[in-house]
Amino acid sequence: MAHAVADGARSIVGTDVELNYYSPEEQLSDYDAILVGTPTYHHDMPGTIKNYFEEAAMKNVNLKSKIAGAFGSYGWSGEAPKLVLEILKNRFRMNVTEPPLLVNYAPDQTSLEKCFALGKRVAESLIQKA
Ligand SMILES: Cc1cc2nc3c(=O)[nH]c(=O)nc-3n(C[C@H](O)[C@H](O)[C@H](O)COP(=O)(O)O)c2cc1C
Repeated sequence: MAHAVADGARSIVGTDVELNYYSPEEQLSDYDAILVGTPTYHHDMPGTIKNYFEEAAMKNVNLKSKIAGAFGSYGWSGEAPKLVLEILKNRFRMNVTEPPLLVNYAPDQTSLEKCFALGKRVAESLIQKA
């Protein structure tokens, strides 16, 4: 899913895309948009992701007005991407321009196309702003 999102963003000329499993928290402020992939476990995001944003908040990483998005695979409830967006919007004052993109278990071709389209829309919105 992350690769498809990244490919979609890269399809817009002039967009630099980094696909990272992890970035140092301080590095987040280098980006114009951040799209977070997260599975849902026990009606929540994994603890590593929650702690990551907790750490970024403690370090006062400034993400204000940057674009935020979230996506992830899930089994039956799929809360995690929505919860991530709530943190990015309410704690970091990011600009959430897309609803969470949820895929049931493993993505099929149609879901990957939705991921591609998500990355592409976000990149287009950045190019328009530039
Ligand atoms: C221990 C465990 C707990 C899970 N809890 C939830 C849950 O609360 N809600 C949900 O929608 N899916 C839940 N799932 C399903 C996962 O979200 C689903 O398998 C997803 O595809 C995992 O993505 P991943 O393979 O990228 O880690 C759970 C799976 C496991 C193994």
